[in-house]
Amino acid sequence: MRVFFTGATGFIGSAIVPELINAGHQVLGLARSEAGAKSLIAAGAQVHRGDVEDLESLRKGAAMSDGVIHAAFIHDFSKYKENCEIDRRAIEALGAVLVGSDRPFIVTSGTGMAGDLGRPSTEADDPPSGPNAIPRVASEEAAAAVAAHGVRVSVVRLPQQVHDTRKQGLVTYIIAMTREKGVSAYVGDGKNRWPAVHLFDAARLYRLALENGSAGARYHAVAEEGVALRDIAEVIGRGLNVPVVSKSPKEAMEHFGWLGPFVGSDLPASSAQTQAQLDWRPTERGLIADLEEMNYQSGTVAASAARRT
Ligand SMILES: NC(=O)c1ccc[n+]([C@@H]2O[C@H](COP(=O)([O-])OP(=O)(O)OC[C@H]3O[C@@H](n4cnc5c(N)ncnc54)[C@H](OP(=O)(O)O)[C@@H]3O)[C@@H](O)[C@H]2O)c1
Repeated sequence: MRVFFTGATGFIGSAIVPELINAGHQVLGLARSEAGAKSLIAAGAQVHRGDVEDLESLRKGAAMSDGVIHAAFIHDFSKYKENCEIDRRAIEALGAVLVGSDRPFIVTSGTGMAGDLGRPSTEADDPPSGPNAIPRVASEEAAAAVAAHGVRVSVVRLPQQVHDTRKQGLVTYIIAMTREKGVSAYVGDGKNRWPAVHLFDAARLYRLALENGSAGARYHAVAEEGVALRDIAEVIGRGLNVPVVSKSPKEAMEHFGWLGPFVGSDLPASSAQTQAQLDWRPTERGLIADLEEMNYQSGTVAASAARRT
């Protein structure tokens, strides 16, 4: 099918594009710059110029497609709430074009939305609502609004750590902080966990959701239900050759700044339902293995890194 794809130029999008093309799909990627357009052409995709804030550009892209994947997001965390509302409007605009058709629409969200549940979050967990909900619930609320109009929309929830040896979600920020502070820290006993998925496994899940997803489904792109923060701190400590230390929750807020509330949280997530429904089996290596392989000196990839094995 011809897939209109926002976010096709990003970290995750750049892995989804070849996954789709190799499976026989055509990709019409959204690009907001000349550099983005060139990278899409080099990857074998077609280009649609536009911006997530230019809703007409999104409507036109969706109108030219047999299906839509929306993975663009403005990652300026100083304007997080505003950017989540931009995401809501983008999803509503894309969805409006698909009303009255059976064309699949994949929306991106996260597994950590509900916070610390005391158990792994599952696909059945509704996104939280109310004043304390994190702003990104806007993406799932918009998907639900679009679904209510009969659109075949499904949500892919990503864990905070989509990884290869170049980038690892929030862990990438922790590495930068560790480099700056000269110690690799975890909170308390460090047994709290973050879920993870390798970039290529996540890319395959997007394709399967596009091809076989059910209306209203939520899919968890989770390969590892939870990796202990202490294990993450230890591998980073070895990589940067700095001491590994435990911080109290209070000290952690100071040490980690805006990441403080997350670093002490236990946020495991399950993908059992997703694996059964889409016959998706993660096969790539885990987060710790990628962190072991990372080149901490240059911050760049070991030669083998971006290559699919
Ligand atoms: N990486 C993770 O571990 C992780 C974890 C949980 C959820 N997610 C979610 O997964 C999705 C993809 O993340 P990613 O890691 O691939 O992010 P990324 O590398 O920052 O890529 C973001 C994508 O959005 C596009 N974009 C940003 N602002 C835009 C705008 N104003 N108009 C049009 N496009 C715009 C970027 O285009 P340019 O190339 O032009 O910048 C790029 O294609 C996002 O929704 C993200 O929040 C990621």
